[in-house]
Amino acid sequence: MRLFDTHCHLNDEAYQADLAAVLQRARAAGVVRMLVVGYDLPSSQRALALAAAEAGVYAAVGIHPHEAAAATAGDLERLEEMLAHPKAVALGEIGLDYHYENSPRRVQQEVFRAQLALARKAGKPVVIHGREAHADLVAALQAEGGHYQGVMHCYSGSKEAVREYLAMNLHISVAGPVTFKNARKLPEVVPALPPDRLLIETDAPYLTPHPWRGRRNEPAYLVAVAERVAELLGMTTEAVAELTWKNGAACFGLPAETPFDCTGHTG
Ligand code: NI
Repeated sequence: MRLFDTHCHLNDEAYQADLAAVLQRARAAGVVRMLVVGYDLPSSQRALALAAAEAGVYAAVGIHPHEAAAATAGDLERLEEMLAHPKAVALGEIGLDYHYENSPRRVQQEVFRAQLALARKAGKPVVIHGREAHADLVAALQAEGGHYQGVMHCYSGSKEAVREYLAMNLHISVAGPVTFKNARKLPEVVPALPPDRLLIETDAPYLTPHPWRGRRNEPAYLVAVAERVAELLGMTTEAVAELTWKNGAACFGLPAETPFDCTGHTG
């Protein structure tokens, strides 16, 4: 079984002490492809350095809505330079977060739209973070063209709202909360998705799936997300792994085959 964790933050300081062991556990669990996602310039640079050094690891570079207030025009130029790297396969994570509202909404919208425009210019997919901002997210996405290669990461909305993202060609990624006993909307959303749009992720170090909830999350735990999605779809875990591998490869423009150097010799 091979799994693609389409959203993790191995660039986070939570892994500073034991990153090699975390990567080893991921690969031993079958998670042989990971997209490491930036949230500001330094974390994007770390994601890219890790991707450059590790087989099967790719980077997304971008400015998270929490960091939007600190963003400058120069930051966008730096992102554009980073996107030229062959392992920088997406722009993200970008979006709107009205739950914490760490940056003013108007600034979040400006920085989000500027990055959507940059992704279009660079011809790269987008990784979108949305929280309690559905109407404004849809409005911004429509205003910047309304058709995207990319993903709504860690989807937490309703099965009605998801149609608007699907209509804009986006993939939908499901994370650890699908395994929580009190999950309400996700068990309805997952079976309602077109099979070719479904992705899975950990969002590690956050959102640790059951039964590890409460601990630091890591890509090896993606198996628990795949298992729960398989239950919801009436499929085997292996079939979900393969489906989401192919969907992730299509979404991010990666080869469908497993890189030879991370199939069995990763220590
Ligand atoms: Ni994230």
